[in-house]
Amino acid sequence: MVELKNVSVTYSTGVDALNNVSLKINDGDFAFVVGSSGAGKSTMIKLLLKEIDATSGVVTVNGYNLNKLRKRKIPEFRRTLGFVFQDFRLIPSMTVYENIAFVLRVIDAPIKYIRKRVPYVISLVGLHSKTNSYPDELSGGEKQRVAIARALVNDPKLIIADEPTGNIDPELSYEIVELLKSINDQGTTILMVTHEHDLVRHFGGRIINITGGEIVFDEVMLGAGDDLISDQESIQYGYALEAASPDSEALQAASAIDSPAPQKPENSADALVDAILKDGEEQELLGAGETPDIPIDQMTPDEVIAAISGEKTSGGAE
Ligand SMILES: Nc1ncnc2c1ncn2[C@@H]1O[C@H](COP(=O)(O)OP(=O)(O)OP(=O)(O)O)[C@@H](O)[C@H]1O
Ligand SMILES: [Mg+2]
Repeated sequence: MVELKNVSVTYSTGVDALNNVSLKINDGDFAFVVGSSGAGKSTMIKLLLKEIDATSGVVTVNGYNLNKLRKRKIPEFRRTLGFVFQDFRLIPSMTVYENIAFVLRVIDAPIKYIRKRVPYVISLVGLHSKTNSYPDELSGGEKQRVAIARALVNDPKLIIADEPTGNIDPELSYEIVELLKSINDQGTTILMVTHEHDLVRHFGGRIINITGGEIVFDEVMLGAGDDLISDQESIQYGYALEAASPDSEALQAASAIDSPAPQKPENSADALVDAILKDGEEQELLGAGETPDIPIDQMTPDEVIAAISGEKTSGGAE
């Protein structure tokens, strides 16, 4: 469950990114969030992940009041979520299996469970034959399916996806949304930010349009299937509203500053989860290490960190 009550976010630069937003997403819902560049969509996502704090108002996610959540409780809270980003954020030196298994590894899941659960989610996203492939051996759509499997492996109540189809071919975008829909059918709440109005129009469902930091449209729409409604109608229904954004050039220029100050991870196990939350550039650095020799489900969290950060692992107990 996600609830925003009169939430505003003003960045230190003085930009009002969200302005008195109230919103409730119930368990089991599937909601699209649309809106033009600089509208405040990613700001909302960052709030929900507790990467940033609201300047005012109350943010509640999966029963956690994020205003009151202590720093040391953040990892516990984030384990109730799955997240998927436009740039996949897979660890290049890990296979598909390892990229997914480490999420369970860092929460000390039993090895037996890991060995059952990881192949299961890999088969759910249809990548059984790629289990031992590395990310750079996969297509964009396949990489995103791995990221979705990783988001799923911990059986989260809520999956938050910020432009998950942004870096993949339009035809494959439909597959990714189909996959998210089927996950939603199993009861997982999904919140998906997207620019692709065709997708939203095709699938329908709950559509939340953020423009200039405010919710200007929040309705459940029927999916049009194969393009049954015109662009003009879609604008009327609030899918697009691209044109409605005031001063959008200035907003776009300002949105170059897009990430909050990096936070120091509390401990090594959670550093991995932090790694996924960081942007692509830092991710590359983390992934620059060698492929681990020991299967990841037999490594300690420290060994996993060492392996992906390029340090040599000892290979034995210390
Ligand atoms: N870290 C930051 N510091 C200052 N201003 C920021 C920061 N991040 C975003 N902004 C500003 O806040 C506003 C909302 O940005 P946000 O990233 O939420 O937009 P968005 O809707 O996700 O856009 P896009 O579709 O381009 O991803 C913009 O004006 C942006 O310039
Ligand atoms: Mg964004």
